[in-house]
Amino acid sequence: MKKDLLYEGKAKKVFTTQQPDQLILSYKNDATAFNGKKKAIFEGKGRYNNLISAELFQHLAAKGVPSHFIRAINETEQLVERTTIIPIEVVVRNLATGSIVKRLGFKEKTPFSPPLIEFFYKEDALDDPLINEQHALLLTDAAENELEQIKSYALKVNDVLKTFFATIGLNLVDFKLEFGRKQTGELVLADEISPDTCRLWDVDSGARMDKDVFRQGTGDLMIVYDHILQRLEAAK
Ligand code: TMP
Repeated sequence: MKKDLLYEGKAKKVFTTQQPDQLILSYKNDATAFNGKKKAIFEGKGRYNNLISAELFQHLAAKGVPSHFIRAINETEQLVERTTIIPIEVVVRNLATGSIVKRLGFKEKTPFSPPLIEFFYKEDALDDPLINEQHALLLTDAAENELEQIKSYALKVNDVLKTFFATIGLNLVDFKLEFGRKQTGELVLADEISPDTCRLWDVDSGARMDKDVFRQGTGDLMIVYDHILQRLEAAK
């Protein structure tokens, strides 16, 4: 089924398949933070992120948010539709934490209502800088109506996932999305949605249940990811 390695990123490998419009994403056990400056390998991480991301994309599809996801093909790999990724990291924030606290001085846990959307230019050499919409139009081939569509999907994803995570005792604090264009030109959600790309706080204890455990070195990341998968599976 897998043909050639098309691309290797920090957390996934991308393979071509016999079908020109389908790719295989293979989730790695590597974890990085601070634009690759902190690195580690966690046995089982690829499996957790593959299975968690699959659950979340399926839930989003059922709620009318289209993505590149087709199906998980094994524990660490998923089949997706081929897209051309728009090099913008779209961050949605419900509460202030992380880079926005450092960058702009918001007090920790300041609520954002409506949720705050930020665009970052996906360019490792520049450390993924924050950009505005005019920058996005100049730096990428995204059109104005596509940026509008991206913002509208981002808010829909937030509504759907915030509600869903609340049912399993998790507060969706913020997350990062990427979008891609299918061969047909259709804009869809792409990449992954996992505890690597979301901040999830336990509703009861406030415990961090995401990659911040690795970024801040505060505990065992795989125990945390296992809890997330178990809660998702129990909710099925
Ligand atoms: P930030 O507070 O560091 O800007 O992160 C915002 C959200 O985006 C958080 O849920 C983590 C996620 N994120 C990624 O998925 N990839 C990244 O490279 C960064 C910097 C953040």
